[in-house]
Amino acid sequence: MIIKAVLFDLDGVITDTAEYHYVAWKQLAAQLGIEIDEAFNEQLKGVSRMESLERILRHGNRANDLSAEEKIALATQKNNEYVKLLVNVSPKDVYPGIRELLLELRAADVRTVIASASKNAPQILNSLALTDLFDYIVNPDEVAHGKPAPDIFLRGAEAVGVNPAFCVGIEDAQAGVEAIKSAKMVAVGIGEEHVLKPSGTDVVLPSTGSLSWSFLQTLGE
Ligand code: BG6
Ligand code: MG
Repeated sequence: MIIKAVLFDLDGVITDTAEYHYVAWKQLAAQLGIEIDEAFNEQLKGVSRMESLERILRHGNRANDLSAEEKIALATQKNNEYVKLLVNVSPKDVYPGIRELLLELRAADVRTVIASASKNAPQILNSLALTDLFDYIVNPDEVAHGKPAPDIFLRGAEAVGVNPAFCVGIEDAQAGVEAIKSAKMVAVGIGEEHVLKPSGTDVVLPSTGSLSWSFLQTLGE
């Protein structure tokens, strides 16, 4: 396969912020008398802030208890707690192999894109000193439908002028892998086989440490 662009999810692929989202949601859910665990959290990964809240409320049978204003207040509260957890994020928090891969992609003239549902993505990339290594950061507000719809990956490919047939997407979320596959791109999953394989991931790696340009070039051979 010829690769002309690689589209990266952010949380859980570039750095450990997926864990921070979980910590902040768990705290908010507990306040509402709802318990969430890591297995349930797999359904929140890749999903927007408001949709995550809706899923937690449904999980706790509280979907109809709250007004729209109350839901916005809760989502804001979660984000405030989450942003507090980001204060110490620095370049040393970039996951293994990611900076090296981005530099290899630059050298190979392959476009690099962030396709994240997070409105905090630009700030996190700045804290990691990675902004300059991406050609485009999709703003989730640019697309009509969140993951698992393909929109954010298709928008990213379009923004850098590459046909989806020449794109690889890298994700840690079930919804994210489904989005990549719906966009007809090759999907690399970071995480556990039993979590990501059923969503259609082409190859699952246990961590980003195994990612490299030479590895990506073996995909679809
Ligand atoms: C995704 C995360 O990347 O971004 C989700 O996997 C998160 O957990 C979503 O809910 C939205 O993030 P934010 O920072 O805009 O609340
Ligand atoms: Mg993720």
